[in-house]
Amino acid sequence: MNGKETLNALLARIEAANTAYHEQDAPEITDADYDALRREAEAILAEHPEWREDAKALSQVGGKPVAGFKKVMHRTPMLSLDNVFNAVEFEDFVARIRRFLGLKNEALEFVAEPKMDGLSISLTYEQRKFARAATRGDGLVGEDVTANILTLQSLPRELPKDAPDFIEIRGEVYMTKADFMALNAVQERQFANPRNAAAGSLRQLDPSITAQRKLSLFAYAQGETSVSVAQTHWDYLDALRHWGFAVNPLSRLVKGGGAEAFQAGMGVQRAELPYDIDGVVYKVNDLALQNRLGFVGRAPRWAVAWKFPAEKASTMLEDIEIQVGRTGALTPRARLKPVNVGGVLVTYATLHNEDEIARKGVQVGDIVELQRAGDVIPQILGVLKKGEGQPFIFPDHCPVCGALAVRVDDDVVRRCTGGLTCPAQVVERLIHFCSRSAFDIEGMGEKTVREFHEAGLLRGAPDIFALPAHEAQIAKREGWGEVSAAKLSVAIAARREIGLARFIFALGIRRIGENNAKLLARHYGSYAHWKQAMLAAQIIGSDARLELGSISGIGPAIAEDLLAFFAEEHNLTTLARLEAAVQVQDEQVAVGIDSPLAGKVMVFTGTLTMARPEAKARAEALGAKVTESVSKKTDYVVVGEDAGSKVKKAVELGVTILTEQKFREMAGL
Ligand code: IVH
Repeated sequence: MNGKETLNALLARIEAANTAYHEQDAPEITDADYDALRREAEAILAEHPEWREDAKALSQVGGKPVAGFKKVMHRTPMLSLDNVFNAVEFEDFVARIRRFLGLKNEALEFVAEPKMDGLSISLTYEQRKFARAATRGDGLVGEDVTANILTLQSLPRELPKDAPDFIEIRGEVYMTKADFMALNAVQERQFANPRNAAAGSLRQLDPSITAQRKLSLFAYAQGETSVSVAQTHWDYLDALRHWGFAVNPLSRLVKGGGAEAFQAGMGVQRAELPYDIDGVVYKVNDLALQNRLGFVGRAPRWAVAWKFPAEKASTMLEDIEIQVGRTGALTPRARLKPVNVGGVLVTYATLHNEDEIARKGVQVGDIVELQRAGDVIPQILGVLKKGEGQPFIFPDHCPVCGALAVRVDDDVVRRCTGGLTCPAQVVERLIHFCSRSAFDIEGMGEKTVREFHEAGLLRGAPDIFALPAHEAQIAKREGWGEVSAAKLSVAIAARREIGLARFIFALGIRRIGENNAKLLARHYGSYAHWKQAMLAAQIIGSDARLELGSISGIGPAIAEDLLAFFAEEHNLTTLARLEAAVQVQDEQVAVGIDSPLAGKVMVFTGTLTMARPEAKARAEALGAKVTESVSKKTDYVVVGEDAGSKVKKAVELGVTILTEQKFREMAGL
């Protein structure tokens, strides 16, 4: 293909994507792919400006108005925003403005506003009464959705006396994540994301349907107005608030240089916000300057959208592999044609379990959409394009040891019944045993564990402590040497003493994660006491079993897993061998049983004067359980400075909020 043909092919795909997105509320490609297409086309046009005439798809804003709604001609076009994706591009944007205005050293102020992922709306007030609402449409002509917008309770129907007689206010209609999930739960045809749900809900010809959907609104821009209301955008937002509009409370005034910090902060906060945002919009604060800067093409020169790195992408599903975990769980994972997702090359994504594969209908050969959020394993969201593969048949035997793999009761997980005869389970348990939150043995990472297991040096956890005795043999292995072998011996020796909670966690008992291990350690205090209690609890109705059942946070399923572990002869042998190799230190028993924090579930949020790990440790020492997220089970949320969404959640759920001072009092600090 020559340049022109490539460009035309790109333009055709962009146009198709525009139509699917704006007119059918059903995106066919991800935002990441869409942005990539646009960039590719722009790159070609940069070399061949003479082809721009034909590149209408690039300047098309939004979609054509949907037939069925009355058309509304916008008094001033509803335009879009240019995007930047990193600090360098943002600096360019600022530099362009400075050049344009001929600024020297004067500071340039911006209003930073979360970029709502919804659909833009124009609201016209005549004689201070709400008169009309219109969607953006193609930027020049939109759809009249007045009746639908009237179903939004939060919409001011009338503006106060100090508002201009005629004013057009612009903003974003969106759906919160919670409302989107609730809607999809009762929808047969699922919406792909909150934005599509908002668009689909607003553009209903029957407003009574819109009324059933929960839509929200943030106001953020001005259209035409009979008299000017402010000198700065910041003051304009204030006026909007005063008139009764919801204005995003996270908006801030920033100097050019502060944008990077704001961007980073929003990137972190993003996941916790009750609604989707896909970046931050930076707008020159001074309206006179905005006026001078004006527009270029489809976007204002005075504003830019700094998008978050795209975290979704699409690629081909090459294979479905089954991994066997330390508890024998067979977990399917997708092997993908490597794809860059938000700056990270992704080759594998989780498929959770066999029901999930069936639910998503994914097959080898499909083009799938995937998402990477933070550090978690990427997930497959669904199929974008079907391939020619066959439905995946989930194995009923362990792919590693060949033992039967079964699903017990209503467990979604299929498990290998091979137990310790299954090499996969053994290796995974060893990896877990050595891992950071367990024995934390430096140098015994996944690779080394696998190597030693294969070499027959490691069959079970107690063998780890015999490794120093084989130091000479290890030193001779390929990739090793005397120094590294000696280092490993030292690292192992350093871990012959271990706290009870870590020890319990290291055993890899099903459902005994770090938190539960801590609960047990704190309750029983010493290894000897714990073990004796677990053995005694094997007897139904025994005091020990009743005691286990009474530990707050340890439910019946967890108790059952613990008892099952102690019922296995080989586990008792392992414990006996470990007892000979390591010293398990006593845990401080929950001293504060009668402290006001005993048994309470707590969340810390915001910046405290006390460092977070200390606050957590203090609370735990007094018998509290500290968790990360606020739920109905939370008793207290301790709020520091700049606390965000967790406080809101606490208020919503009616959870008691404590200041740091109050927490200190309760903790006797
Ligand atoms: S200002 C002329 N502010 O982003 C500038 N837009 O990509 C008008 N959006 O069409 C837009 N949050 O639908 C502005 N705080 C915000 C926004 C925002 C979301 C949307 C809006 C716009 C699109 C451009």
